[in-house]
Amino acid sequence: MRKAETIHACQECGRESLRWVGRCPECGAWGAMVERTLPSRSGPEAECVQPGSPVALTAVEVHAGPRLLTGIGEFDRVLGGGLVPGATVLVGGEPGIGKSTLLLQALRSLADRYGECLYVSAEESAAQVRLRADRLGCVSSAVSLLPETNVGVVDASLRALRPHAAVVDSVQALSLPAGPSLGGSPAQVREAAGVLVRTAKELDLPLFLVGHVTKEGSLAGPKVLEHLVDAVLYFEGVEHQTLRLLRAAKNRFGSTNEVGLFEMGDHGLSGIEEPSRVLLAQRPSWASGSVVVPTVEGSRALLAEVQALVSPSGYATPTRVTTGADRSRVSVVLAVLEKRAGLNLSASDVFINIAAGLRVVEPAADLGIAAALVSSQRDRPLPAGFAVYGEVGLSGEVRGTHRAAQRIAELARMGFSRCVMPAHDLAGECRRAAGEQLELVGVGALEEALANLFG
Ligand code: TYD
Ligand code: MG
Repeated sequence: MRKAETIHACQECGRESLRWVGRCPECGAWGAMVERTLPSRSGPEAECVQPGSPVALTAVEVHAGPRLLTGIGEFDRVLGGGLVPGATVLVGGEPGIGKSTLLLQALRSLADRYGECLYVSAEESAAQVRLRADRLGCVSSAVSLLPETNVGVVDASLRALRPHAAVVDSVQALSLPAGPSLGGSPAQVREAAGVLVRTAKELDLPLFLVGHVTKEGSLAGPKVLEHLVDAVLYFEGVEHQTLRLLRAAKNRFGSTNEVGLFEMGDHGLSGIEEPSRVLLAQRPSWASGSVVVPTVEGSRALLAEVQALVSPSGYATPTRVTTGADRSRVSVVLAVLEKRAGLNLSASDVFINIAAGLRVVEPAADLGIAAALVSSQRDRPLPAGFAVYGEVGLSGEVRGTHRAAQRIAELARMGFSRCVMPAHDLAGECRRAAGEQLELVGVGALEEALANLFG
């Protein structure tokens, strides 16, 4: 008989190699290559395999049940309009960001609407979860709690209890009944998740899996977890800030453009219905270096405060620090300001910050960053009702952006009086969105914008 063929596969990314290597050439993981035996191509199984019977796409029946709503508007928005029965949603985020809080609140709300739901706690004891539920006001007899780490027991419980929705917190803490002893190893996490994803599909159960994210931003353990599930949501925030953002990185049943905004309070998370008001709440409108930029996150417009501080540097190499803005875009804006507007910043430290922990990386923030820098350097605050946006090109030209009318509509709604913006965006739609109160000033170049703002 022929000797069985073997191959080496990476446990992290699945990369295969004919010979063993210490470091995966694909993802760089050390010691992740394990030997696998390939099924024999001439063995007895190969002979009795029958071909499958495909059906015409038109003949496939679809039983699309209604989506389940969590009742938390910001959450449903990111899910693409609610939960699809049978879909598994992976919720990732750094430890302590509020994943357990969000999902306990969502489960409570689902239980109120649809009946019995199950929370599987693989990390915390039942008492710890109960304490959190007390704090959140989420104690309900329709939410059952199962402190369990064995995925076999979790699977059997889901099949026996048939809950309307379930949360497994977290997938990294699960262990296989007969798996290798190392709990939380990539292979184990993937296998445990695979079991639960299959069960959810079979039972038409909407299932949430919690996954921890490492500091580098990848879901700890196997990246392949993302391929297994139907949707991947990331819960993000900034240390010492109460703002939380829920973003979809993958969604088989909706757009990945949506962003949900939450605020973490003493009694859990609450959706922010008026984000612009919250983001601008603490803006020092009298101070130089502060500029309001209408930015677009997902499908909606938000008003962000861009802050700049330009101060004389005591060092040969001046400091450049950006928080919340794109570093490379800030460098381009600085270079264009020096070249086209004659601003000399070579002996100045420059700090850029987007207030309230928001991250604005779209090019539309360029002109706002430039205005904030000039405002700080000249110590000239902008009038309170002014806003600025537009992409700045390398020649100093101001370029149009997408969703211009939406940006203008948000400024008008928030009572702004003047917006300096790309001339390209001055279409009828924008003028209609601006209404009577908001004056639109279209500019074609950076110098023109600065002349308009600072005279
Ligand atoms: P948690 O949901 O346990 O985070 P994760 O599951 O992502 O690790 O939330 C932990 C943090 O949230 C903790 O630092 C305390 C804070 N928190 C509040 O500020 N308010 C609340 O009502 C709750 C429950 C937690
Ligand atoms: Mg947790």
